[in-house]
Amino acid sequence: MTFVGVARTKEHLPMRVPIVATGRRLPRRVGLLGGTTTWADCLVAAYYLANPRRLVQGAAIAEFEAAFARQVGVRHAYSFAAGRVGLYGVLLALGIGPDDEVLVQVPTHIVVANAIRYTGARPVYVDCELNTYNIDLEQAERALTPRTKALVLQHTFGIPADIDGAVALARRHGLEIIEDCVHALGATYDGKQVGGFGRAAFFSTEETKTISTTMGAPHTSSWGNGTRCPGRQPTRNCAASGRLIMNSA
Ligand SMILES: Cc1ncc(COP(=O)(O)O)c(C=O)c1O
Repeated sequence: MTFVGVARTKEHLPMRVPIVATGRRLPRRVGLLGGTTTWADCLVAAYYLANPRRLVQGAAIAEFEAAFARQVGVRHAYSFAAGRVGLYGVLLALGIGPDDEVLVQVPTHIVVANAIRYTGARPVYVDCELNTYNIDLEQAERALTPRTKALVLQHTFGIPADIDGAVALARRHGLEIIEDCVHALGATYDGKQVGGFGRAAFFSTEETKTISTTMGAPHTSSWGNGTRCPGRQPTRNCAASGRLIMNSA
């Protein structure tokens, strides 16, 4: 992965940092720091902690988003406080709300179902296939009702789901696909990175994930004519802030 270098290159260090420290692994003494965190990352983080406006309104987030979109091979990436917040934002942008149903597999994380519930929609659980732990699409088809609007397509433990099958199902029934790529940054399907197959995808850069910003989560999309998702625009949030703010720009 090349984009983790965003916060590590010399030009992004807004103060004198001993470059000799760059790239050195920090022993995992503090559980909240991801295993790839370096001393240089800590210095940059300390700087932004003291100057939060530079992070939230500065160039770093936009550069991270652009690098993330390039890495995944999609047009846009937006930073959110967590994967669950990104999913919530995508659902709102799709107009999903009360009386709608969203298919989601088991096993998943409870926050996926919660994000759906926060919109007023109902999560409908579908069992997984035992050889991949990904959604069983035959059972998904049987769970459809006229209220079903979307399918959360999870790539469990980094194993890509049956994307062709899911796309065919979605086309047959007019569903939106939202990829859950939380476990799967860097996984490929047919030579293409996951995160660009559905209407939108959400990732996580929380501390146990492939790359860590301690808290945070980009979601990716090829939506829109330039920079924005259609519909209500969830706030692009500081990946490290852990705050959820919604607006309706
Ligand atoms: C499959 C899956 N989806 C979504 C999430 C939520 O991600 P976040 O913790 O960034 O909200 C998790 C968390 O581990 C997860 O395992």
